[in-house]
Amino acid sequence: MTYDFDRVIDRRGRNSAKWDRRFIGEGENALLPFWVADTDFETLPEVKQALSDCVEHGIFGYTLPPEGCPAAAARWQQVRHGFHVEEEWISFLAGIDCAIATAVQALTQPGEAVLINTPIYTPFFEMAERCGRQVIESPMRLINGRYEFDFDDFAQKAKQAKLFLLCNPHNPTARCLTREELEKLGAICEENDLLILCDEIHADIVFDGHRHIPLASLSPELARRTITCTSPSKTFSVAGLVASVIIIPDPEIRRRFIEVKERNSINTGILGLVAMEAAYLHGDAYADQVCRYLQANRDFAVDFFRKNIPGITPIVPEATFLLWLDCSGLGLPREKLEGFFTSAGLRLSGGSAYREPTGQFARLNFGCARATLEQGLTRIEAAAKARLG
Ligand SMILES: Cc1ncc(COP(=O)(O)O)c(C=O)c1O
Repeated sequence: MTYDFDRVIDRRGRNSAKWDRRFIGEGENALLPFWVADTDFETLPEVKQALSDCVEHGIFGYTLPPEGCPAAAARWQQVRHGFHVEEEWISFLAGIDCAIATAVQALTQPGEAVLINTPIYTPFFEMAERCGRQVIESPMRLINGRYEFDFDDFAQKAKQAKLFLLCNPHNPTARCLTREELEKLGAICEENDLLILCDEIHADIVFDGHRHIPLASLSPELARRTITCTSPSKTFSVAGLVASVIIIPDPEIRRRFIEVKERNSINTGILGLVAMEAAYLHGDAYADQVCRYLQANRDFAVDFFRKNIPGITPIVPEATFLLWLDCSGLGLPREKLEGFFTSAGLRLSGGSAYREPTGQFARLNFGCARATLEQGLTRIEAAAKARLG
């Protein structure tokens, strides 16, 4: 089956956070949204069918995860990422944000330190800080248009931390980490006896020339200290169903994690798990095609910025549908950057939210129909040219 990602679907008035009028306004002056990280694509028919069957039955009492769900999630890891996962290693949680908070509470004490690489997806530091943990940042460095780890800095800071929160593929820089990078990070964590949470929610969307490698698949030693978090939400446009997969090979870490999960009574709704099972069983062709479509969107956007938009340099994504933009060439003070995009008629995510220190970056979500993307880029072009001439 061929999926049509070019189709523009109106999401307004449909409880979409990205398209909600409280964030983008309404009428002729509504902003075009390129912020929250979900795609505007319809999910696959098998997911819709599984959900309709559930809704049609009409009884929504207490549930258990579908029996086939762990096997479907394990199949996906094996087939798509070459990661062998035992079903007993898997638990299901609401979103991955929830898994981050749970891991922080299960594996560290108040006042202990959590290590992250900035700029980073906001909940990495927000969840840790809300739980009363110290956050240590090891910033990534932008070298020749690509974000790199500063391994010396990371090794120094690892000495003071208990838990490392890794994001791979990385939001917002859209890096897909190489085997060598993962091995270096893993070795430093082993030397310092750090536990690791690896957020691999973007793992299915990786572009030509790159391959996602689950950290825990590198060695049994790394698997023993790693919690891998993943989810069908980005790949199959089911983020609103709030269900994620948490893979914990080590029985003692799993016990501690589940204890906190149960203490806080965190469960997923049945619809999220029904959708997950269907997506992981039937979603291979969809995932292949959405990746190809997004890669073409990425190429279109990068080319458009380079040819037509002065003052903004795109950081070419290796994975994800997130385009990290270096806007320093616009010559705007940091507090004016978001206003620049708003005046141009778009909503992007401001880079400061990810603890990017210069305030000169923004993130553009290109998980939309090409026509919507082109419309947005044309608005940015007009505003940049009006500013820079
Ligand atoms: C890296 C990363 N982790 C987690 C999430 C959120 O995951 P969930 O919706 O499962 O809480 C996002 C959403 O943008 C993300 O980019």
